[in-house]
Amino acid sequence: MEPTITPIDATLGAVVTGVRLAQMDASTWKAVEQGFHEHAVLVFPGQNLTEAEQIAFANRFGDIELLAPDPAQKAVAISNQKPDGSVMSAGEHRFKSLRGNEGWHTDSSYMPLAAKASVLSAQVVPSAGGETEWADMRAAYEALDEAMRQRIAGLSAHHSLYHSQAQIGHVVETGAGYGFHAKGAPLRPLVKVHPVTGRPALFIGRHAYGIPGLGEAESEQLLSDLVDFTCRPPRTYAHRWRPGDVVIWDNRCVLHRARPYDYQEVRVMRHTRVAGDRATELAPTHRDDRAAAYEPSTSNR
Ligand SMILES: [Fe+2]
Repeated sequence: MEPTITPIDATLGAVVTGVRLAQMDASTWKAVEQGFHEHAVLVFPGQNLTEAEQIAFANRFGDIELLAPDPAQKAVAISNQKPDGSVMSAGEHRFKSLRGNEGWHTDSSYMPLAAKASVLSAQVVPSAGGETEWADMRAAYEALDEAMRQRIAGLSAHHSLYHSQAQIGHVVETGAGYGFHAKGAPLRPLVKVHPVTGRPALFIGRHAYGIPGLGEAESEQLLSDLVDFTCRPPRTYAHRWRPGDVVIWDNRCVLHRARPYDYQEVRVMRHTRVAGDRATELAPTHRDDRAAAYEPSTSNR
C-alpha cells in the first residue's frame, strides 16, 4: 500500500498517512523520501515510535548527528521537565536554550557541519501552545524582488549559538553544552542551492550574524529584515502536536521555531538530528569572539 501524501495549505509541508514508519518496504520509503524532497516538512500523525524506531527512521536519511557526549545516545529529549519531575524555572541554563528555540533558526548551522534534517516526536504536550512552526526558505527566495536577490548574491553570514543566545540575554561559557564550542563560527552563503532538488533557498535565521563586507548594524538589519519578510504566510505552517506524532524537516531549506506555552506545564519532545553531507553542509570557520578560544575543526565532535 502506497502512503497518502496530502499537501498542507502552504508552500511547504505535507501530512503522510497510510504508512508505518517502523515497517517501510523499499517502495514506501522511496515515496517518503520523494515527499521529503518535494515538501521539505512531512507530518506523520500517530506513529508512536519507540526511541529505537525513531533513530532507525532518521538513519534512513543519513548519519545521525550526535548531540550528547555519549556516542551511544542518538536521540535527545527536548523538555522543560527535570529528572525529579518538576519543571525548569526561568533562570536555568537549559530553559534559556529552550526559549532560544522560539526564534527562527536552522539546526546546527553554528557547527562546522550543519544538519541535513531533524526528526521530532511528541511525547508529552501542553494543553495549549507549544507548536513547532516551519518557514519555507525556497519560496522565500522566490518571493524576493530582483534587487534584493542581487544584493544578497555572493553574501555570506557567520553562524554562532553564542550570538543567538546572547540576543535573548543568555551568555554562555565555552564548553557549557552542544554548540558552545571553540571551533569558530562557520561562514555560510545566504543563498543555499539544495543538493538534491537544485532549488535555491535562503539560509538565514537567528544564528546568523556578521556578514563580511557589511557593517555590524547593516548586517543585523538585513538579516532581520529577511526573516521578517519571509517567515509569514503562505510560507509557514505550525503543527499542533498530539503525542505520538512524528515530523521530519529539511534543515537545508526550512527554518523552524518552537511556539510558547504555559511553562508550568510539561512539554517533552524526542529529537533525532540527521548529519549534513560533508560535500554540501561543511563550512569554513572563523574566530568567534564570544568563544573562549579558537581551535578550528571540521568535526562537530
Ligand atoms: Fe531547532
